[in-house]
Amino acid sequence: MLLAFADESPLAHALAREMDCELAFVETHRFPDGEIRLRLPPALPPRVVMLRGLQQPNDRLVQLLLAGRTARELGARHLTLASPYLAYMRQDMAFQPGEAVSQRIVVGFLGSLFDRVITIDPHLHRIASLDEVMQGSRGVALTAAPLLGAWIASQWPADSLPLLVGPDEEAEQWVRAAGERTGLQGLVCRKTRRGDRDVTVELPAQDITGRDVVIIDDVASTGHTIVQAAAALRERGVASIDVAVVHALFGGDAIERLMQAGIRQVWSTDAVPHSSNVVTVAPLLARAIADCD
Ligand code: R5P
Repeated sequence: MLLAFADESPLAHALAREMDCELAFVETHRFPDGEIRLRLPPALPPRVVMLRGLQQPNDRLVQLLLAGRTARELGARHLTLASPYLAYMRQDMAFQPGEAVSQRIVVGFLGSLFDRVITIDPHLHRIASLDEVMQGSRGVALTAAPLLGAWIASQWPADSLPLLVGPDEEAEQWVRAAGERTGLQGLVCRKTRRGDRDVTVELPAQDITGRDVVIIDDVASTGHTIVQAAAALRERGVASIDVAVVHALFGGDAIERLMQAGIRQVWSTDAVPHSSNVVTVAPLLARAIADCD
């Protein structure tokens, strides 16, 4: 059985179709004081997959605590979490003495509730794989960059493909993966972040005048990284700028600022529900779930 939450219903239906399994929804109620009540189907089969992305993560982590424990009580013996977006992955070390290393703590917490955690493009920077923070090879990290690459390539004639631009060094992996089967070429910028909304992006010295470019990244949140990359690209005289991200978090007025920065279109996967979703991760998740069985 696939157990999901109503606010991720389109991906839940697509995933249940791909898995060819029963789909049920967890009912949620929020009390006036902010507490949450959840209700699951009263009898669960032995194998259950729970779909819950961790965008706006704090409430959802509590939901997973309540739903994960309850699923066990209701009969689930093997419980998989399919979390297309895994939050708290960027704080992977104590940058200042005393800071919580959220990545290790959150992955450890999920590992205490679920037998397996499947996610897409988690922000693993200083560690090579989820195994380093989750005991027993129970974490599976997939990448949706090839799907974005295929989408991007389909938008141009084969003889005039755009240039992929990774806005920071960490984006090199997504530029490479998106280009592997499509022939898309790319370059990677250097980013300096001084605060949540204070970043600068420098392009490498390469003539890109007149090129169509697509900025590709794992996650866009405030949009500042993309806006700064777009400003640097405009200065170099590119013909057009589009954006492709795996996880479209886009808080507040981020999309409006992207449009003001001269970006034509924003494309994303449905790992996080957003109006920019054009590529579904359902088959990717379904394959990984089947491979784990
Ligand atoms: C971090 O390095 C990520 O890959 C993204 O570049 C970053 O999280 C984007 O954040 P924002 O949209 O707030 O600049």
